[in-house]
Amino acid sequence: MIKIAPSILSADFSKLGEEIIAIDKAGADYVHIDVMDGMFVPNITFGAPVIKSVRNKTELVFDVHLMINQPERYIEDFVKAGADIIVVHAESTIHLHRTIQLIKSFGIKAGVSLNPATPIDILKYIINDIDMVLVMSVNPGFGGQKFIESSIEKIKEIRQLHGTIDIEVDGGITDKTITKCIEAGANVFVAGSYVFSGDYKERIDSLKRR
Ligand code: DX5
Ligand code: ZN
Repeated sequence: MIKIAPSILSADFSKLGEEIIAIDKAGADYVHIDVMDGMFVPNITFGAPVIKSVRNKTELVFDVHLMINQPERYIEDFVKAGADIIVVHAESTIHLHRTIQLIKSFGIKAGVSLNPATPIDILKYIINDIDMVLVMSVNPGFGGQKFIESSIEKIKEIRQLHGTIDIEVDGGITDKTITKCIEAGANVFVAGSYVFSGDYKERIDSLKRR
């Protein structure tokens, strides 16, 4: 069974709580939450207080994607804000294994994200310590970008490395691009602009039909 994680990066921030309720009603599985610091990526979004403010709007899994330098500084804050999964980028933290241990020490799930140019080798010694690999299929920072085709090969290689781990794909996911990602072995799909630019239920259904 695939899971759909609408990215609230494409939501209307002026009514974020209502937007989250709406994607919940529309059949979302996770709420994908993009945290950007203007350093690791060229854009700034929001931090733990904003996440905390909408935690009581839904019981859906909060899938928190940290695009920030040295995320270890803020893991506890995001846990307290209500994160169920925290994903860090391989290049954002010097001691990646320690950061994974830190996330797991709070009893939540840990994920590692790979940029389009990042090889999968980084996963070799940590894959059994994490719950999810996030494959960036665009360069992180902005919604609405075009899907990068080399992501397909990467998903296949990760699926060969581990038969059951969750593989999440993030960037440029539509009813067209999702199909080849599923065939390659991914099972969790972030969709920002695709879900939020139409009827949320129709869009989520169209992804799940694939
Ligand atoms: C990009 C973010 C994505 C983004 C995806 O850095 O990590 O989650 O919201 O947006 P779409 O689905 O529009 O490519
Ligand atoms: Zn994301």
